Amino acid sequence: MSDQVFYVTTPIYYVNDNPHIGHAYTTVLADVLARYHRAKGDDSFFLTGTDEHGQKVEKAAKLHGMTPMEQCDKTVVNFQSLWKKLNITNDDFIRTTQERHEKIVSAVLQDLYDRDLIYQAPYTGNYCVPCERYFTDKDLVDGNLCPDCHRPTERLEEQNYFFRMSRYQEWLVEYIRTHEDFIQPAFRANETLGFLKQPLGDLCISRSKKRLSWGIELPFDHDYVCYVWFDALLNYVSAIGYGTDDARFRKYWPECRHLIGKDILTTHTVYWPCMLHAMGLDMPKSIFAHGWWLTGNVKMSKSLGNVVNPMDFADRYGVDAFRYFLMAAMTLGNDASFTEEDFISRYNSDLANDLGNLLSRVVKLTLRCFDGLVPQPEVLLEPEDKGLLACAGEAVAAVTSAVENMKLDRGLETVMNVVRAGNRYMEQTAPWTLAKEGKTKRLATVLYTAAETLRIVSGLLFPVMPEKMAELRRTIGMSEEDCRSVSFDQIRSFGTLRPGSRMQDIAALFPRIQTEKPSCAAAPAEKKKEPRIKEKKSVVIPEGIITIADLQKVRLRAARILSAERIADAERLLSLKIDLGNGDVRPLVAGIAKFYEPETLTGKTIVVVENLLPTVIRKHESRGMLLAARDGERLRLVTVDGECAPGSEIG
Ligand code: ME8
Ligand code: MG
Repeated sequence: MSDQVFYVTTPIYYVNDNPHIGHAYTTVLADVLARYHRAKGDDSFFLTGTDEHGQKVEKAAKLHGMTPMEQCDKTVVNFQSLWKKLNITNDDFIRTTQERHEKIVSAVLQDLYDRDLIYQAPYTGNYCVPCERYFTDKDLVDGNLCPDCHRPTERLEEQNYFFRMSRYQEWLVEYIRTHEDFIQPAFRANETLGFLKQPLGDLCISRSKKRLSWGIELPFDHDYVCYVWFDALLNYVSAIGYGTDDARFRKYWPECRHLIGKDILTTHTVYWPCMLHAMGLDMPKSIFAHGWWLTGNVKMSKSLGNVVNPMDFADRYGVDAFRYFLMAAMTLGNDASFTEEDFISRYNSDLANDLGNLLSRVVKLTLRCFDGLVPQPEVLLEPEDKGLLACAGEAVAAVTSAVENMKLDRGLETVMNVVRAGNRYMEQTAPWTLAKEGKTKRLATVLYTAAETLRIVSGLLFPVMPEKMAELRRTIGMSEEDCRSVSFDQIRSFGTLRPGSRMQDIAALFPRIQTEKPSCAAAPAEKKKEPRIKEKKSVVIPEGIITIADLQKVRLRAARILSAERIADAERLLSLKIDLGNGDVRPLVAGIAKFYEPETLTGKTIVVVENLLPTVIRKHESRGMLLAARDGERLRLVTVDGECAPGSEIG
């Protein structure tokens, strides 16, 4: 057990409609982080819940002919059952209609009112009903449209209550400037600082019951309810015992990491810090705003009707594969596009092909050659064994730091690279040949090393795919306890897999998804079946001529150049980073420095031999070879004519 505390939250979602993939994303992300921290031994607390007050919910209730409470009770179940389905391990689920929450909101309002941090004043403003926000005249676009949702606003004049947010502006700017990690990624901190360049007004925190009664009543004026955001943000403290259980509250606050989508940046990085400051509380450790899942170029959102139903998706393709895709396909902070095709392509290449193959090769050979018992390795390992294990060991450190630095997709990429290294190792050591030649000792070491690699990989992927990795661990003969949970300390120590334990034969862990029309960007790692061309013995192949089978040994692919740099003291060489699609990013050294300036290369789509044995040139790793045409003194790269996804097969 470490002595670190990790408290992670998701936004609390509105119950005006059912959950969609965006909600699933933030919640799976929080779950994966919580699981990693538990595996590290941290004292973790994971909170999610629902935002049940306000106009959106009241409107939905009216539409469905229900009371607002009925609307909440009906919809909350859909969130809760989705979290159950997706294997979400939240420690608490807060609903803002719960008494434990309402009491705290009321107490905070009263306290701020008593201290004159909330005051009453006349107010004229333009109110956007869907956004539940007032806007000043200069905020509006095209006359009277809401600057956020572009729907017409209503002009309202009434008495209201205000929170003295304006007085915290300078403090907040200073706080953000001096706490680099407070708002993440850094470009979002700049966005908030940009917002704070304008004078910050006081925040209207009341809504007249004449227009909206579905909210928490102001304790000092029964004609009003509380603005839904002021109510909702307080869930992060009410759920952990603020005002009721001081010891518990102090344990988790301010060790708090808020995860949010970029749509709710201002409320979380301006309103909330000011509220906390007024309440005399410390700031949370961080507020991380991730990007949006898009369909095409458009945000997926309930109101736009272009959402992917996460329940259906998980049913169709499996919960863990869905969790994996969400985590691997979005670079934290940026937007990402969700398509079924991308999902299938990544599933087939990473899970069915790379991971599935390594597992089935190890298990099948162990069953065949060692009666299914994990073999005892030799004491002395060969350099190739050590190489693979070192690669797996490095991934443990890489994943740990990826989790700390919110670079999950990169962490997962590192793990998949270990898997790919595992498959290359199998090809190099060729255990099937060792078996044929009766080299049992070497065979035992190779299979043990590969199985250990699978143990490490499954440990690292466990927080993302808990069920499948438990199954994988059971398959390679690990104990029930090791299948239930993972400890990072244990992952690190080599030799944990016990020789003599029994492996199990199972059906494919990730059966391939068959698609009707393979797309241009189809899974690059996918292996072609051996060509069905019989090389008839009677045909004499002339010297210098090759068969199709020879040709197909060379795997040519389109690759996009991501970056290019000169290599010191090597005037002919450039070190490139190339993208082969599906997350396969590699270094490649090419002798083209005399012909191309590095800056001109980025973004070009070139042709590379993908399956060339990796090598190291002048201390720079190179995996693959690019094609170029040479014409005397000139050299020109072979490129692709027009748009083509990285990784596309050439042939
Ligand atoms: O804003 N891509 O609730 P909400 C990625 N109740 N994430 C998305 C997404 C998308 N297309 N769409 C939604 C609210 N999300 C308030 C929050 S917190 C005190 C109150 C995720 O139901 C993302 O986390 O509109 C986003 O911030 C959240 O759902 C908004 O959920
Ligand atoms: Mg929203």
